[in-house]
Amino acid sequence: MSKNNFTPLPDGRDPDDVGNNHSANPSMQDILAVSMSRRGLLRSSAGAAVFGSMGLTGCLGLGGSSGSSAPAAASETLLGFKPVAKSIADAFTVPEGYTASVIFAKGDPMFAGVAAFKNDGTDTGYDKRSGDHHDGMQYFGLNAAGKADQTGASRGLLGINHEYIDEVTLHANGQTAGSNRLASEVDIEIDCHGVAIVEVAKGSNGRFATVPTSSFNRRVTAHTTIELSGPARGSSLLVTKFSTDGTRTRGTVNNCGTGKTPWGTLLTGEENWAGYFKRGNDAAARSAKEGVALTRYGRGVNKASRYGWETAGTDERYARWDITATGASAAADFRNEINGQGYLTEINPYNPNSVVKKRTATGRFAHEGAAFSLLKTGKPLAIYMGDDSQFEYIYKYVSDAVWDPADANPADPIATGDKYLDKGKLYAAKFNADGTGTWLELSLANPLVAGYATYAFADQADVLVNARVAADAAGATKMDRPEWSSTHPTTGDIYFTLTNNSSRVASGSDASKVVDAANPRSYTDVKGGSSTQKGNVNGHIIRIAELGDANATTFKWDIYLFGSEAGAIASINLSGLADSNDFSSPDGLQFAESTGICWIQTDDGAYNDVTNDQMLAALPGRVGDGGKVSVNNGGVLVDTQMGKKPTTDTLKRFLVGPKGCEITGVAETPDGKVMFVNVQHPGDGIAVSELGDPSKYVSQWPSNAGYGAGKRPRSATVMITKNDGGRIGT
Ligand code: FEO
Ligand code: CA
Ligand code: CA
Ligand code: CA
Repeated sequence: MSKNNFTPLPDGRDPDDVGNNHSANPSMQDILAVSMSRRGLLRSSAGAAVFGSMGLTGCLGLGGSSGSSAPAAASETLLGFKPVAKSIADAFTVPEGYTASVIFAKGDPMFAGVAAFKNDGTDTGYDKRSGDHHDGMQYFGLNAAGKADQTGASRGLLGINHEYIDEVTLHANGQTAGSNRLASEVDIEIDCHGVAIVEVAKGSNGRFATVPTSSFNRRVTAHTTIELSGPARGSSLLVTKFSTDGTRTRGTVNNCGTGKTPWGTLLTGEENWAGYFKRGNDAAARSAKEGVALTRYGRGVNKASRYGWETAGTDERYARWDITATGASAAADFRNEINGQGYLTEINPYNPNSVVKKRTATGRFAHEGAAFSLLKTGKPLAIYMGDDSQFEYIYKYVSDAVWDPADANPADPIATGDKYLDKGKLYAAKFNADGTGTWLELSLANPLVAGYATYAFADQADVLVNARVAADAAGATKMDRPEWSSTHPTTGDIYFTLTNNSSRVASGSDASKVVDAANPRSYTDVKGGSSTQKGNVNGHIIRIAELGDANATTFKWDIYLFGSEAGAIASINLSGLADSNDFSSPDGLQFAESTGICWIQTDDGAYNDVTNDQMLAALPGRVGDGGKVSVNNGGVLVDTQMGKKPTTDTLKRFLVGPKGCEITGVAETPDGKVMFVNVQHPGDGIAVSELGDPSKYVSQWPSNAGYGAGKRPRSATVMITKNDGGRIGT
């Protein structure tokens, strides 16, 4: 890899994922000694909730609208398809009876007059093309007249995150070397980031294509002007040379997971943004508090930036990526520019001219998914969110406003966002060993936050901008990299993928890294017959059930699923996975509105000697449908609670992607008959020296599937349909 100023880890992970949480939150090992009196608690909700063929008509869809589910055909069986085998082929493979086709790949034109994509590294103007590294995605329906309609299944808008870039294939010969980056190359890289809103419409053949000239199409990039909204708007922490009153910033970067609001807007999660900023040695110009906060978010002194954008010139488009304090005050430089990233950012997909807002009330961290609680009229809304880095936390935001169904189809969706997303409470999760949990309030009303010796919070804006520090203070549980979240459409249980954690240990002097009930595994796995990998190698999926409404402060939890190789010993393969459903590193997660199927996607570096990344279909039960298990980590026993084990009928592999990719982002039309899935960074790892010889590419997808010019691999959106016209996953 030849990333400018950026050294990926040996397994290709982003250094931001590795973690900067050095707080001494208590280990749950202490708590494990507490006797477990959990009987009765977990049995109260027993009973698997496997969906029948008509299980979700009437729809409790996450989009908040009602009644778009088509009644299932009498013969329909959820997960009736034949599972796809593990594969390391350079192909996108779906079950028999299904068809997959690429519809929107990196560089594709999104506006009239944009030149066709040549795919040779000479293309420019990505603010009018698809960005790179497609990630989280949501579908927003349109009716025939082109108006917002959450039941619209023939025409709609895809909101697609463009997380980061393949800087080798993006340029003719990779990034040009030198101490200063070329502005022409940096412009491309900045524009390849952000979000795309692109119209898709069904043709007479029943299949969707993008509408490259649609007036809905929009690109939000790493340089688009964005409003700051919520309690931190106007805070001194957000004052920059660009916005001396702290109300605006520019750009959204490293957008990973998404959420879809009940009023039909996109929430895009800003994940590994910290590494985009350079920080020199400005310790003398910074307060002690600033030093604590910057270090906690991975920007101690003397940190190089990921892509070196700040070296391309003095124009603010480049200069703002250097947060070294050099001016007389925050209003004279970009020292606070980093505080403008790390939010859930709301985009109204239906109006390309609408303001984009960063919702500071939901906290600043490495955002992944944003799962809403089931809607209840007159009750608050909750949003469940993961912070993806080793030993980071799970968060919940609860709105002050209570749900009014009239808000499902608002005239001004961003104003509705103001109502629900700008005023509320933020919490972090503490998982107790007995299967219960507590939501810890992150505010000065919490004595642990107000009295934190490490960092004296000034106000709620300070708490929200530095939510990780507040969660440290409150004593939240350090998790194995919380990725996406999704809400079961009938039980309301909230599922979180915990993708993996190579630093989780079975025992050791640093108690905060030791296995606990919610993160109970640490083991050694062999890869490729020789190299070994340690920790929670394969990840797991945890789920919670609130003990009350969305604003409850206690919950119960269990572990739905443990990732594992099918052939692993029983103390690792705790969920009893088989060849047809084994997986590693769960990441993307989405319950389908129509069928209620839980789609699980992988972003794995541990099991890819055996299979490329994949997507599975699952029919989970509910929290408490299993029982207590004792996890044996080489003699270190950890008690936890695990859901009912899946069978080969309730968990099946649905697709496998091409070489070097991650499978991420899944959205469906409201009738469940068309699915969109993203393939990110196929062929990851091509060297500059290999660019002239396609036979050396790790992958040639999607050109080898007949899509587009050139042979350089491209991130892309794939459309999947069932040949008999049925719903996806049946
Ligand atoms: Fe966004 Fe952590 O994968
Ligand atoms: Ca990702
Ligand atoms: Ca292995
Ligand atoms: Ca990931």
